Amino acid sequence: MTDPSRVLVVGSGIAGLTFALKVARHLPVLVITKKRRADSNTNFARGGIAAAGLGPDDDPELHLRDTLDAGAGLTDQEVAEVVVREGVERVRELVDWGVRFRREGARFSLGMEGGHSRRRILHAGDRTGKEIERALLEAVARDENIQVLEHFLAVDLLVTRVGGQDVCRGVLALDHRKGELRSLTASTTFLATGGSGQLFLHTTNPRIATGDGVAMAYRAGAPVANMEFIQFHPTALYPTENPAFLLSEALRGEGAVLRRRDGTPFMEEYDPRGSLAPRDVVARAIHAEMKDRGESHVVLDVSALPPEDFEARFPGAAEGCRSRDIDPHADGIPVVPAAHYICGGVRTDLWGRTELAGLFAAGEVAHTGIHGANRLASNSLLEAVVFSHRAAEFLTGASGPEPIHTHTEAPRNPERDPEATGPAGISWPEEPNGGVAADEPPLEHLEALRIRLQRLMWEKVGIVRSDRELKEATEGVAALRQEVEELWKGSPRSVEGVELENLLTTAELVVRSARSRKESRGLHYNRDHPQADDHRFSRDTVLRRSTTI
Ligand code: SIN
Repeated sequence: MTDPSRVLVVGSGIAGLTFALKVARHLPVLVITKKRRADSNTNFARGGIAAAGLGPDDDPELHLRDTLDAGAGLTDQEVAEVVVREGVERVRELVDWGVRFRREGARFSLGMEGGHSRRRILHAGDRTGKEIERALLEAVARDENIQVLEHFLAVDLLVTRVGGQDVCRGVLALDHRKGELRSLTASTTFLATGGSGQLFLHTTNPRIATGDGVAMAYRAGAPVANMEFIQFHPTALYPTENPAFLLSEALRGEGAVLRRRDGTPFMEEYDPRGSLAPRDVVARAIHAEMKDRGESHVVLDVSALPPEDFEARFPGAAEGCRSRDIDPHADGIPVVPAAHYICGGVRTDLWGRTELAGLFAAGEVAHTGIHGANRLASNSLLEAVVFSHRAAEFLTGASGPEPIHTHTEAPRNPERDPEATGPAGISWPEEPNGGVAADEPPLEHLEALRIRLQRLMWEKVGIVRSDRELKEATEGVAALRQEVEELWKGSPRSVEGVELENLLTTAELVVRSARSRKESRGLHYNRDHPQADDHRFSRDTVLRRSTTI
């Protein structure tokens, strides 16, 4: 299992698979994924991938402007420029790998979503993520230089000291079918573990989205940034399931309207852009409507789309409604906001490098700087492919930078690493046979703790926050942490245990970041500080293991 000349990818969504496909032209790649290979957040992406320059009236400058507007002053302009300029080429590569974006004749069908000034969203109906994942997995299956191991959970990064600096040399992984721990060493480790929506009681993210990458990188000493900026999607199906069924924003792009349960449209009372205002505005408006009126949900009226168009353009939504006995054209679709995306993550540079040498990251786990304080819809799949490509270019020496920012160089050439490596964070109770100690707490107990954390985060760190609630969140997370540590005597022993540990770490990072930002900006709204404070907070919130805020 140990091969230091290998490149290791953790995660099998769009970021991990595109990176693997590119690097495998030069080096052997091992992809590990904690469940089955298709169990990624990518599969759940509905709307699509934004790409400027395909529509007759669009260009990257307009896409850049929309991205900067959404980012509320925190978007890194250089990063955003790279993404909007290089994005179209990356999207063409997806097509070359077999992704079938919807077309109208010879041209791509371009969708519209909130915050975009032009139609520029490539899509596959409202099953875009599924289609991308299908095509990429098929391409990976054809590639002999890529090996995929399912049911391997990365529990910690292996870090070693080389020439006075910490270097990541792979991961400690749990082969949870066999209950065995493995050291998977590699010259380069690429984190593509996705997001952390499972921090919240209501989320559109699958159960695997437990902040694993952020928690591991943080434990290993890599800085994380902007964890307070959680995007709540306005339209998840009510009542919510886990994961909540997502009604794509593209529905509103095609004319669907948000209404109160009595049929009155309300979004114009909050924003002149109405139902297509940016997501943070719409989510807060729905939150206010529900709170002020004591309603459990609002209604998405899709009558602007004739039933046959609804069925053809949004087959996922149509099927989701049908299977739940909802007649969208008779009754509208009951919706509520749900946690959807985290703009923060492991801080990376223009080449996907983290500040821990040997460790790259891309996709939702990373903080590149493009999203700033609020992600523009359908920019995340684009960001993932652009930075997976750039990381692959850097690694294989195809192109590369002058030393950038303050980041340490990852070794470019695979080399044998003579030094012993050790996991950076959780200390695992290895048994003499390499297995994992068997006395795990019952799964129901872990599930109950997870739900308590999710409820706490939903109630205290949700769409609208306050100083008091954030303080209560700190106390609540600390109490849960203590309970968990007593339960395991310091170390989790199962997938569910590691996930809970990672959720707790991620929750701590989110709450600390949110408490430190005493203003409201983009996705972070604190009613005790309802205005943006450019003087003090026009900057990223960066946390390292040693930071005390
Ligand atoms: C959606 O289809 O509404 C989700 C797209 C995204 O999150 O970018």
